[in-house]
Amino acid sequence: MSRALASIPLRDAVAHDAPTIEEPPSRWIDAFQSVRAETERRAASLSAEDQVVQSMPDASPTKWHRAHTTWFFEQFLLIPHLADYQVFDERFAFLFNSYYVAAGPRHARPERGLVTRPDAQGVTDYRAHVDEAVERLIATADAAQRDRIFSIVEIGLNHEQQHQELLVTDILHAFAQNPTSPAYDASWQWPRVQTGSDFIELPGGIHAIGHDAQEFCFDNELPAHRVLLQPVRIAKQLVSNADWLAFMADGGYATPALWLSDGWNTVEAQGWEAPGYWRAIDGGWFTMTLAGLQPVDPAAPVCHISYYEADAFARWAGKRLPTEAEWEVAARGGALADAFGVVWQWTRSAYSPYPGYRSAEGALGEYNGKFMVNQMVLRGSSLATPDGHARVSYRNFFYPPARWQFSGLRLAEYD
Ligand SMILES: [Fe+2]
Repeated sequence: MSRALASIPLRDAVAHDAPTIEEPPSRWIDAFQSVRAETERRAASLSAEDQVVQSMPDASPTKWHRAHTTWFFEQFLLIPHLADYQVFDERFAFLFNSYYVAAGPRHARPERGLVTRPDAQGVTDYRAHVDEAVERLIATADAAQRDRIFSIVEIGLNHEQQHQELLVTDILHAFAQNPTSPAYDASWQWPRVQTGSDFIELPGGIHAIGHDAQEFCFDNELPAHRVLLQPVRIAKQLVSNADWLAFMADGGYATPALWLSDGWNTVEAQGWEAPGYWRAIDGGWFTMTLAGLQPVDPAAPVCHISYYEADAFARWAGKRLPTEAEWEVAARGGALADAFGVVWQWTRSAYSPYPGYRSAEGALGEYNGKFMVNQMVLRGSSLATPDGHARVSYRNFFYPPARWQFSGLRLAEYD
């Protein structure tokens, strides 16, 4: 166990103070070093053996996250913009490209766990090589280059923060396959949340959603636009484990009428009878957490549920999931407790482009737009999201059966 990790819980990690494009190079070097250090802090308690394992095709090894985020800077920043840059290892582009077709061929995602070389130290060396070059580029860029360079650094840092969260969710999945239920951080505890079942009235009418500020956002949050909402009541609090236990006790996982067809097929195929990581032991429910196997806390928010489960629970409760527009309008109005930093909240909105959406130019245009089919939007952020990363317009997205993220829900109902 790394002392650094134990002494700085995930959600209390020091947020990097994001600079704006106009700010001087020193601010960008500080931000770069801060985000890069946070990745290493999250990996610090993990052995070389921990770092190589891939527990399912959707999850990637820690070592891969550390290398892929580094490749991102090498591929999109250093190769095009640093004239004398020497690529660290020509083979790494194949190993550590994720899904950028325009950036060339890449290794098969489900086989990332088979890559034992470079080893963890090799990835550390790769990171150091790229860090030095990025800092040199930032420091020496002339005024004409700065806007372009700083904007690529900015997306690279936001990209790395996304992988910081995945690093944690993926190692939790790996540890959950280990019969000894290892702890990622033995001192980790659930964030305290507000409990209750209060509903907030949201008036119908025209509202604005989408990113409307100067700070960074991903292209999928744009453009800001108007939406027409019906009057709705939205839950102030997250759904709790106690709520979920009531759903289970009432036969929630055994009642096909509560489920979408694809959802019920998944329940049957996967044998689901409880949220992800839950285990029945001696008549009680336990769940795998970042601190290892723990009794399910009735007061904690339900977590590691799929869209299908969230939808079925809402139907059982006589309610529904909010749309992402309803969620955003309520969050902007300050109506939601624990909107951020606990669990991502499934919405009933399909992940689709906003009216007028345009993806970025070039390979980075592959970042979001090409995934806008067959996935559902989650809003807020989770306990594994780096501080300062998410915002009220942030759109996360996963396939409906996914439940290895820190995903939960809040309810809504028509007024
Ligand atoms: Fe990535």
